[in-house]
Amino acid sequence: MPDLSSNLAGIKSPNPFWLASAPPTNSGYQIMKAFDAGWGGAVWKTLGVPVVNVSSRYAAVNYRNTRMMGLNNIELITDRPLADNLREIEEVKKYFPEHAVIASLMVESKEQWHQIVKDVENAGCDGIELNFGCPHGMCERGMGSAVGQEPNVLKTIVGWVMEVATVPVIVKLTPNISDITVPALAAVEGGGNAISLINTIQSVIGVDLDTFVPYPVVDGKSTNGGYCGPAVKPIALNMVKNCAQHPDMNLPISGIGGIENWRDAAEHILLGATNVQVCTAVMHYGFGIIREILPGFERYMTEKGFNTMDDMIGKSVNNVKTWENLNLKYKVVASIDEKKCIECQLCYTACEDGAHQAIGLKEVGEGRVPYIIEENCVGCNLCSLVCPVEECITMVRRDDGTEHETWKEYMENDKAPTTFDDDRAGGKHHWVPAPADALKKKK
Ligand SMILES: Cc1cc2nc3c(=O)[nH]c(=O)nc-3n(C[C@H](O)[C@H](O)[C@H](O)COP(=O)(O)O)c2cc1C
Ligand code: SF4
Ligand code: SF4
Repeated sequence: MPDLSSNLAGIKSPNPFWLASAPPTNSGYQIMKAFDAGWGGAVWKTLGVPVVNVSSRYAAVNYRNTRMMGLNNIELITDRPLADNLREIEEVKKYFPEHAVIASLMVESKEQWHQIVKDVENAGCDGIELNFGCPHGMCERGMGSAVGQEPNVLKTIVGWVMEVATVPVIVKLTPNISDITVPALAAVEGGGNAISLINTIQSVIGVDLDTFVPYPVVDGKSTNGGYCGPAVKPIALNMVKNCAQHPDMNLPISGIGGIENWRDAAEHILLGATNVQVCTAVMHYGFGIIREILPGFERYMTEKGFNTMDDMIGKSVNNVKTWENLNLKYKVVASIDEKKCIECQLCYTACEDGAHQAIGLKEVGEGRVPYIIEENCVGCNLCSLVCPVEECITMVRRDDGTEHETWKEYMENDKAPTTFDDDRAGGKHHWVPAPADALKKKK
């Protein structure tokens, strides 16, 4: 049995699965239910001077049959008095001393930061998370992402917190920035103990085409919100990886964004996260998803021979290179398994109109079966991505594995194209149909 116990900068929890600061962590009642279901930790809904929220607050992108592929919200931090939250933190810690309770905080002045850090520590929290990520409402007041986007301000505020904090401090970053490692390094310089990312992505999710008002609607108007859920996982993974790869980023990472199942969590951890946090998936399906996450994750660890979390954290980080370091001599082409093909022709259309005209159709009986024209195939993967039949189109290797040359080496060895009509262009010898062929009717 692998050991799932987790330690993020000294904050211990029975497993690496925490609830992110959001509606599921609004109260002690919810967090007790979550711990009882199996979650290892929870970051309390951000505390500060309580707000007044609007109604309505959420909107979603439903993609085909999937509800809430992306969720957008315009909610602020907690609207409950601090004293109520502090009392509940104390109570939760009494019932669940081994679980991690993290207080997420957002206030303005140095005095307020000092006071609230002491308050939540007195209530018994195991760690503190600084919310420098909220990209709506609070940023208009100079907090949330307004801090996360200003590395010097971020560093100063982390410094204020570190003056009084005696428990580990996690700095939660906003993805609404061009280079996530800049605020991450500011968190290091400020003295923080860990970083967490991502908070939500600033967004307008859509417009009501009859009323012309974007969603969510508040009395005939709307505002930009924060985007999260399955849609944001690729953005989160990239940012987690960027932080994990930076040579000067020596803080552990709590990975957040689009985690719905054990696979999503494993991906965050393989790319450098020490633990993970979940919000939208719990808002969608409830605390019970942990009952599938835990055994799935445990089975994966066993299969891969990971005995502890440390064996697994960051395993994929060195497999992500800059583009210039990829092998230009590696060649794959598509291969169609005719026995599996249902002749939907999606691959043909995708390659014909959206790629490299490398799929032909041959008449077989009543039907038209696709075949690959290998000399045209650049191995882009598109046909295998659109094919609805599992393993029907696979990519097969065509180089013999003996050659390895990167763009960086091309540049160093003077092999890279330098003029607009350079003979060394990658596509120079690819066959493409003549423009007028587009108007010829195919039989
Ligand atoms: C309705 C809602 C409210 C949120 N409130 C907070 C908050 O108070 N503090 C905070 O740090 N993050 C807040 N978040 C952001 C989440 O903690 C998390 O960073 C983000 O949703 C990405 O994770 P996910 O894809 O699992 O939802 C909120 C998210 C949602 C959807
Ligand atoms: S891999 Fe790309 S180029 Fe090759 S057949 Fe498929 S879609 Fe066409
Ligand atoms: S997309 Fe797949 S199933 Fe459809 S025609 Fe192409 S190979 Fe056959």
